[in-house]
Amino acid sequence: MMRQHLANYILTPLFLINFICSFGQENIDLLIDEMSIEQKVGQMTQINLGFLSSNVDQHDGKVKQIDNEKLKRAIEQYHVGSILNTAGTAYSIEKWHKILTDIQDIALATPLEIPVLYGIDAIHGVTYTKGSTLFPHNIGLAATRNPAIANQIAAATAKESRASGLRWNFDPVLDVGRNPLWPRFCETFGEDPFLVATLGAELIKGYEQDGLSENTAVASCMKHFIGYSDPKSGKDRTEAYISDITLWQKHIPSFKAAIDAGASTIMINSSMINDVPVHGSYKLLTELLRNKLGFKGMIVTDWEDIIRLHERHKIASTPREAVRIAIEAGIDMSMVPNSFSFCEHLIDLVKSGDISEDRIDASVRRILILKRDLGLFTNAYPEKDAVQNFGLQEYKSLALNSARESMVLLKNQDNVLPLPKNKKYLLLGPGANCLSALNGCWSYSWQGDNEEVYPKTSKTILDVFQERFGTSQVLCDVKSEYSNATNFSINFSDEEINNVDYVILFLGENAYAESPGNIDDLTLDHNQIDLAKRAVALDKKVILVLIQGRPRIISDFSENIDGIVNAFLPGSMGAQAIVDVLFGDFNPSGTLPFTYPAHSGDLLTYDHKNLSAMVRTAPNNKTYGGYHPAFKFGDGLSYSDFSISNLKLNADTITTDEKLQISFQLKNRSDLDGTKNIDVFINDHYASLAPDVKNLKDFTKVFLKGGEQREVLMELDRDDLFFYNAKGEKLLEEGSFSVFIGDQTATFYLKK
Ligand code: GLC
Repeated sequence: MMRQHLANYILTPLFLINFICSFGQENIDLLIDEMSIEQKVGQMTQINLGFLSSNVDQHDGKVKQIDNEKLKRAIEQYHVGSILNTAGTAYSIEKWHKILTDIQDIALATPLEIPVLYGIDAIHGVTYTKGSTLFPHNIGLAATRNPAIANQIAAATAKESRASGLRWNFDPVLDVGRNPLWPRFCETFGEDPFLVATLGAELIKGYEQDGLSENTAVASCMKHFIGYSDPKSGKDRTEAYISDITLWQKHIPSFKAAIDAGASTIMINSSMINDVPVHGSYKLLTELLRNKLGFKGMIVTDWEDIIRLHERHKIASTPREAVRIAIEAGIDMSMVPNSFSFCEHLIDLVKSGDISEDRIDASVRRILILKRDLGLFTNAYPEKDAVQNFGLQEYKSLALNSARESMVLLKNQDNVLPLPKNKKYLLLGPGANCLSALNGCWSYSWQGDNEEVYPKTSKTILDVFQERFGTSQVLCDVKSEYSNATNFSINFSDEEINNVDYVILFLGENAYAESPGNIDDLTLDHNQIDLAKRAVALDKKVILVLIQGRPRIISDFSENIDGIVNAFLPGSMGAQAIVDVLFGDFNPSGTLPFTYPAHSGDLLTYDHKNLSAMVRTAPNNKTYGGYHPAFKFGDGLSYSDFSISNLKLNADTITTDEKLQISFQLKNRSDLDGTKNIDVFINDHYASLAPDVKNLKDFTKVFLKGGEQREVLMELDRDDLFFYNAKGEKLLEEGSFSVFIGDQTATFYLKK
């Protein structure tokens, strides 16, 4: 009798679950052997919480109530294994815990008791939990050149996610910002692959370094593999044409670095490259991602992207064919997300023999391993003791410090900045009093423009000015609604204007996310240009603060502006950081992670070819000046006065096994302490594939006290001197190279 009971217990879900938690993959296989095709397909299915709510109109911005019957149907009837997003807006931690508890109660009441894996976007802090701390978006974080701060931000975000009960973060964005028109440019670390790879890997580590079963970690999700960020038209989710050489040299390095850093999951590019939708590409998802790059984690689609192989890309004549193509390409989980069609089609495909059960077992295995590693089989519910890690003051300090370090001082004519604190200031422009502009996309809502859900403690720039200087020194009538007509005019009397010492313009963009952020012209909106010109006409010192996710062109008026600060999208403490920089309470050190174009028809990146560097003004009259942006990659001023000199290399010639030791003198010629970001570039003079004029290979930050001088040592090796060919082979070729640091250059010869 006892033997029979034991036998019965061994095959019960409880035993399987316990067995899985305590042992390895072979026990995952034991569970898989117990699963029906329907249960397996359900694990590969991810559904949007909004679809399981009372009102399924996805983007009406209204808060929806979860429909428990729909929830039960999804989990009990379709065996759905993953759910994502919110039903309309950010939730309190208490509400998240209630929703997640209801979900897991239903899941753990099913025969196999497999917990649901919940996915969320938290790309600059936790988007959908009220009271979370939002950090600078990646485009600003890249200007800090500070990998440590990137790691700290990810670790803080992981803690606030996990405190919310959310264990899978659809982040980091590892796309390389090669086209500034692209509306997701702000989500990238800019145009350089090395910078993106270095900072992206730190985010992966920050999310996962404590171990996925710890209540301070989340599973990361590299995205969006691959080639999403360089659409030919600049419009989101439109075709890109990227050669294999460019793919290897510009787009793969950040994903390779993230895989090496231990990323658990990856999300796929919604678009197509070279006429092939990435979601349907066996070459990209299996041959490249799995076989060449060695990724072993779980692959999830982006939003509705299997359905769109039929509906948009038109490579599948039926929705069923779209599922077959995507699964054969290598997809593990479908973010369907607003129907059960994926389940129905995939079950049919397996039962009809068009897709093998072994193939779906491979995906189910990866999904169950991830759930095990995240501790879901041990405890599927929100971890109460994680809540203590939410809303810590240290996150606010981190948000302030990272926002300060992200600010880039682009122009400071006659040292107009920092501003004196005892003067009168006229604040103009829509960014002066707008929370959503400071935070951008993925800020308490998808678009970031629902200011009702921002923490009540959030401050606009006007709030901070009035706190610090009182209303007597500050003239401003800018409304919080970005597009309010008042914000584009100067509504003060001559007498009021006469009393003003400085005009500060806050221009740029309001919040947008993805395709809603598509534009036809990178030039700043004309109503803002008109306002700037009228501000200049007031004949005062004018400071421009750009609050934007991409470099909007300001050439129409920038020469008449005295000081320019690019603030990007600085997050929860952005207003305080901007005012700190304007008045010298923080000495700016940020440096551009992208090229800032002067003209909408000249979107050349800094790592262009020699052909673009030259400007043929006549058949035989060539000059160099093809790269003539408003501001260059790496530009950024300080209130200190730094000089770089005496660049030396330890050898004129090195072999491929030797390191190149670099030294240079860095001097702070002012009496003001400051930090200097230093980029190290190389140029391969001649190569079998056309070399770029320069490539970033290292960077560092150096703090010097006023008057201090220091020798800075850096080094390069063979891993900095190779380039990829179309097959992804690393070519290290003998020949001469240049090293560029600041305005210093040195050359060396690489000998094989
Ligand atoms: C969106 C984005 C992706 C995000 C996903 C889930 O469309 O492309 O970055 O993670 O859907 O919200």
